[in-house]
Amino acid sequence: MSELETLTPVETLPSDPELEDGDHDRFSHYARKADIVESTVTGRPIVALCGKVWVPNRDPDRLAEVVASGPTSAAKDRTRLMGMLRTLRSVVRLRRSELDRTARRLRGAANLDDLRRLAKKRLPGGVFDYIDGGAEDELTLDRNVRSFREAEFRPRVLRDMGAVDTSSMLLGRPLAFPFVTAPTGFPRIADPEGELAVVRAAARAGVPFTLSTMGTRSIEECAEVAPEGARLWFQVYTWRDRSLVQEMVERSAAAGYEALVLTVDTAVLGRRERDVRRGFTLPPEIGPGTFLDGMLHPGWTWRFLRSEPIRFSNVVGSSVGDGSDAVSLAEYMTTQFDPGLSWRDVEWLQSIWDGPIVLKGIQTVADARLAADAGVAAIALSNHGGRQLDGAPAPFDLLPEVVDAVGHRLEVICDGGVRRGSDVVKACALGAAAVMAGRAHLYALGAAGERGVDHMLEFMQAGAARTMALCGAATVADLDPTLVRLPSR
Ligand SMILES: Cc1cc2nc3c(=O)[nH]c(=O)nc-3n(C[C@H](O)[C@H](O)[C@H](O)COP(=O)(O)O)c2cc1C
Repeated sequence: MSELETLTPVETLPSDPELEDGDHDRFSHYARKADIVESTVTGRPIVALCGKVWVPNRDPDRLAEVVASGPTSAAKDRTRLMGMLRTLRSVVRLRRSELDRTARRLRGAANLDDLRRLAKKRLPGGVFDYIDGGAEDELTLDRNVRSFREAEFRPRVLRDMGAVDTSSMLLGRPLAFPFVTAPTGFPRIADPEGELAVVRAAARAGVPFTLSTMGTRSIEECAEVAPEGARLWFQVYTWRDRSLVQEMVERSAAAGYEALVLTVDTAVLGRRERDVRRGFTLPPEIGPGTFLDGMLHPGWTWRFLRSEPIRFSNVVGSSVGDGSDAVSLAEYMTTQFDPGLSWRDVEWLQSIWDGPIVLKGIQTVADARLAADAGVAAIALSNHGGRQLDGAPAPFDLLPEVVDAVGHRLEVICDGGVRRGSDVVKACALGAAAVMAGRAHLYALGAAGERGVDHMLEFMQAGAARTMALCGAATVADLDPTLVRLPSR
């Protein structure tokens, strides 16, 4: 029988009040000895494990004998092993296991690239490519993101960053940080809730939400879920049938929308070659290819088939078709949208809308000046996220000259390529009143639905706050061009 098996637990610790007089000292002595037994003779962390003093058969003399006999080599190995285990235990922190699958997924998503990767995994290839892709060689899509990355900070220090405030003003109203969700067509292919999820998340984050004319939730549905104080903008495409546009503008006013965004970079639809290759339609058509894609993404297919049919909800019941039959977007837009859109239409829109108008898709100083002359409240420098004219300039690159030319006459929003909170800071430092981002909320929706959008908006704001602190700017008003250096070209 080994020494260990003869050990008997003593229920007492030296300070135990039930010890008899005299016992205290004795056990206190052997408590210390028991440590020695643990480390050199038995190799078992007896005291550490049980919180008790162990004495062989309650016989203190026997224990002293054991101690005196010194360690065996097996005991030494065990001791070394136990030492290593103790060290390991002191550095290893086991994470609490997360039972909620969405929370688990989001915990590993530290940035937008992670959300994009998750969306890619969860969405069928055609759906992901519709969101992710750009026009032709995707040069502009790539340039939009790169332009932010290439800009470098010139951070200031020792400026007391005890309290950093990301809040700002846009169109005369406050927002929690200078960020607006851009209008995107067909969000429900990323998640059945679609725009409703984005409206709620944007309201929680304290930033404006923009509904696309090609939305899959109607003007009224979005207004209904928007909590008190939420900021809703409506994006206008000009149908050949202007009465349809007028009707949507009136519905927006009636539903309490704050601003109209007129998209002006879509005289014709850009050629998005990923969609061409896949023969992608909206809503996605279930053909042999998409069937296989759907089978490989059963979660998405299940949600898609269970939810109500996806349609262009703002034009349901009108003669232009509501997308309930699968259509190629290019075909639909070519037949329905008016390539004759001109500055006269801006005037017309101003005549039927009382609130602020944002012209989205301005890409030159010359047009920025015309927009200021037309008296719009703001412009969004934008190339439609690289989905229209491939080879168009990156909005971020245009900022300095446009802000210089018209920044005192209207607000300038920088739309496209925003992937991080630090991009928001860079744009504002160069004079943008805010940024707009489209793919950000679509990746987030595809990755984890509404909670994904919450997550994305949280890390965008946190990233902006952290970057401001590291740059020495406590408020958005403190951001100025000296904080950013652009690469020389
Ligand atoms: C899938 C998708 C759909 C879009 N649909 C619209 C739209 O209906 N109307 C519009 O003005 N812009 C639309 N855009 C462009 C966005 O409003 C925005 O300009 C663009 O996403 C900004 O680039 P980012 O994705 O890099 O943030 C869409 C963009 C994407 C990715």
